[in-house]
Amino acid sequence: MSNTNKNILIYVSGSISCFKSCSLISLLTKDGFDVRVAASRDALKFVGKASFEGLSHHKLHTDMFDDEFEIPHIELAQKWADLIIAYPASADCINRLACGLADDLFGAICLANNYKKPLLIAPAMNTQMFLHPSVQESLKKLKGWKTVILESPQGHLACGESGQGRLLEPEDAFNKIKEYFA
Ligand SMILES: Cc1cc2nc3c(=O)[nH]c(=O)nc-3n(C[C@H](O)[C@H](O)[C@H](O)COP(=O)(O)O)c2cc1C
Repeated sequence: MSNTNKNILIYVSGSISCFKSCSLISLLTKDGFDVRVAASRDALKFVGKASFEGLSHHKLHTDMFDDEFEIPHIELAQKWADLIIAYPASADCINRLACGLADDLFGAICLANNYKKPLLIAPAMNTQMFLHPSVQESLKKLKGWKTVILESPQGHLACGESGQGRLLEPEDAFNKIKEYFA
């Protein structure tokens, strides 16, 4: 099945694994998906705007009040995206989403989407952050709201430890996305 005309919105939050989002964007665009990227302010400390814009061929979305769309959260969530994925999803991103906050672009996008289109989240953080009750309870709550929580495999982490909290590899996230359009 052709992926032309299928629109994927990737939200990138501030994690050491942000660079892996570039591979995911590349895999998706090469496969014919139209990809737009929204990034948190802190994500841009790890990967630059030029990489996101160059790989997606679209302007980066960062700010609800300074965007190519007049009402970007409504346009992106209700008119443009066929699937939304937070890749990587930081602890902060997960806890904020579980509170239903809408004071940043991605929070507002998720509320405006209201699960009309699939919302996938790929956690990425240090093992103790991942196991913290706030993160675990947020993931449980988000799952109950129909968020798809992607598996966080065990393995080597950037902090030098080994354990849970690794970001799902780009190829595996790509395959999960493909399943929705199979
Ligand atoms: C070098 C470095 C690496 C970090 N990696 C992660 C990470 O993998 N996961 C995470 O949840 N936070 C990580 N953080 C902390 C987040 O960047 C921080 O909580 C930030 O406020 C997240 O905000 P955001 O979700 O709005 O991007 C890291 C911070 C630094 C300085």
